[in-house]
Amino acid sequence: MVLDIGCGMANGTEMRRTVVRENIIGIDVRRDSEAEVIADITKGLPFDNEKFDIVFASHILEHFGKYEIDGLIDEWLRVLKKGGELWIYVPNLKWCAEAILKGKDILRVAAVDRITVMHQIYGGENYLYDFHKWGFTLETLSQTLLNHGLEIVKSTEWGGEADLEHKPEVCVVGRKV
Ligand SMILES: C[S@@+](CC[C@H](N)C(=O)[O-])C[C@H]1O[C@@H](n2cnc3c(N)ncnc32)[C@H](O)[C@@H]1O
Repeated sequence: MVLDIGCGMANGTEMRRTVVRENIIGIDVRRDSEAEVIADITKGLPFDNEKFDIVFASHILEHFGKYEIDGLIDEWLRVLKKGGELWIYVPNLKWCAEAILKGKDILRVAAVDRITVMHQIYGGENYLYDFHKWGFTLETLSQTLLNHGLEIVKSTEWGGEADLEHKPEVCVVGRKV
């Protein structure tokens, strides 16, 4: 069973394309999302301990401040089975910095569709919950998961299928030991 945290309109995510709908529960604060459960994840998750084999968090962690992040991950790990995997995707701050230093037009689409450098740093800013409060590189996200006692099973800069040259995201997968 997979928990998709901050699933939004999640059809496009890697996890949604590979897991059958009955085996995935999405949670999101927005009523107009595709979530099975509408809830604010800062209030805790409405699930039993160790219910999920995978906790999938795509472009959600950066929506919280630096003092909130450890508490959120603790809660995500509470609902993850021992031996299960926490998958986290976030914007790649290093890719943003490189684009700025190279003098790229950071207000225009820079890599895969819709993703500009400014969007990756600040969020889409299209609705209340669409603002970024913190940022990560591959190294800082990996260290965050190591600090929570996870074993790193995957750690990669990622650009989506549309454009492999650019790496606007980082993905780190940690196993609960
Ligand atoms: C950038 S979207 C990511 C959507 C999807 N996971 C993806 O990768 O395409 C961030 C999502 O997090 C949700 N979100 C933000 N703050 C939240 C909160 N406190 N509780 C639950 N969901 C939240 C937003 O409503 C939004 O759907």
